Amino acid sequence: MKATRLEALEGGAAAQPASVVVPRHVAIIMDGNGRWAQRRHLPRVAGHRAGAEAVRRAMQAAADAGVEVLTVYAFSSENWRRSEEEVSDLKGLMRYYVEKELDTLQKERVRLQLIGEPGAFGNELYDRLVHSVERTKDNDRLTLVVALNYGSQGEITAAARELARRAASGEIAPEDVTERSIEALLQTADLPPLDLLIRTSGEVRLSNFLLWQAAYAELVFTDVLWPDFDESAFNAALAEYARRQRRFGGR
Ligand code: FPP
Repeated sequence: MKATRLEALEGGAAAQPASVVVPRHVAIIMDGNGRWAQRRHLPRVAGHRAGAEAVRRAMQAAADAGVEVLTVYAFSSENWRRSEEEVSDLKGLMRYYVEKELDTLQKERVRLQLIGEPGAFGNELYDRLVHSVERTKDNDRLTLVVALNYGSQGEITAAARELARRAASGEIAPEDVTERSIEALLQTADLPPLDLLIRTSGEVRLSNFLLWQAAYAELVFTDVLWPDFDESAFNAALAEYARRQRRFGGR
């Protein structure tokens, strides 16, 4: 349990004694880039560009608050249904940011990790992503997990298929298929349990994101559009999480 800056935000250590709990692992469904752009009569890509800036702010806010892992849903396995132009814009943005942000990740001691199937974005982008993962692997202030071409049902299916393969080959018995053995094959196996899942833009769905991992997570939905999501919105979600922990904790 950590008492941090959140105490000051909520009225100071005296008002909120050491009971303020900071989630170890926060995930965000970043939604609303398109609507943000539309309201400004801008092309959708402008919303995604502003959304990428919001990722940087969230990363900073998470690190400052003492969160260990921030997982963001940057591209779902369903996002391929968007227009060719938009997919290409998103890929271009990722290429730009993975290059441009490497120095920031190093400076801020942020370790980059990937989940999903980013190989589908082509060798050039994939190699750059893997290079950044490799370069930042010893950073210890925050782990930023970017979900790229990720889908939770696909992830769970792959784990089930691997266990079926092991059972068929006699490596394991059917009884060895347990919650723990499934969990160990998910792409998040090395991360702390998900504590808090945030979705922006007023939509109240999980959209195939971290379905297994969210089993015990607190869910926070906010009307803020992703490009407008700033440090105070992030801290408001952390404060909501801390309030819920206090209400039901009793531990
Ligand atoms: C949802 O908004 C957002 C996405 C599908 C893409 C998220 C991508 C970024 C924030 C930028 C790149 C990320 C990184 C890590 C550099 P939407 O387009 O569905 O919005 P709408 O529902 O208002 O149309």
